[in-house]
Amino acid sequence: MRGFVDGEYQDGELRGMTLICGNRGMGKTTEMARLLCQCTGDAAFFDSVSKHAAVLRGWTVVSEPGAMKEVIRLARARRVASRILYQPRGGSFDAHFESFCEIVLAVGDTIVGIDEVDKCCGARFGDSHMPKGLYDIVNYGRHHKVSTLVTVRNPFRVSYDLVNECAFMRLFRLKPRYVAYFKEWLEAEDLALLQRLEKYQYLYWTDECERGEVKGGRR
Ligand SMILES: Nc1ncnc2c1ncn2[C@@H]1O[C@H](COP(=O)(O)OP(=O)(O)OP(=O)(O)O)[C@@H](O)[C@H]1O
Ligand SMILES: [Mg+2]
Repeated sequence: MRGFVDGEYQDGELRGMTLICGNRGMGKTTEMARLLCQCTGDAAFFDSVSKHAAVLRGWTVVSEPGAMKEVIRLARARRVASRILYQPRGGSFDAHFESFCEIVLAVGDTIVGIDEVDKCCGARFGDSHMPKGLYDIVNYGRHHKVSTLVTVRNPFRVSYDLVNECAFMRLFRLKPRYVAYFKEWLEAEDLALLQRLEKYQYLYWTDECERGEVKGGRR
């Protein structure tokens, strides 16, 4: 399913802003890849650690903005969906990320995945803790038909403004200190559940439901 639903661009199970959070090795990146692979339209993945070419087999790996634009141009000319895996190699990490964000916003109609998003956030970017491109994706992405999912282990390391815009969360098992971070969003029963989840299970929460739902598990 792809289109504009409830004011947000939807492709597969993804719509609006999604946060995937959980301890090391719980399956965050694998879940992100599963969701991205369901997309029938354009999708772009920012591989912050440049280690995930094998997770998204068949996606076109690029490592500079010019190459990314060219892949999109060719896909559009052939009327096929682009599948971009951006690995920032050489030069400034922040400059790569800014270009990536600018391109997806300019192109529009895209699902964006950002792995280990804490690498892209921080106090160095001022109050919002987000660089301009990410700020624009988070706050105005829907006007460009851009929907986004991000992964992180430690929620305290992500911009609060970003998490606050996430109407969808997929939360894997978390350390007690990190569970506390989600007090603002989750019921007490769900907070307790977060520490008891089995490996690869996650709590699926949306801002429209009172309680989350346990999903996933070993495949
Ligand atoms: N549902 C699943 N069933 C079985 N194995 C899985 C499942 N999900 C992930 N794995 C495997 O577990 C390992 C860790 O998964 P993944 O890299 O997605 O975790 P992660 O949460 O992103 O970890 P990190 O925080 O280190 O990035 C991988 O080898 C992956 O293939
Ligand atoms: Mg990962």
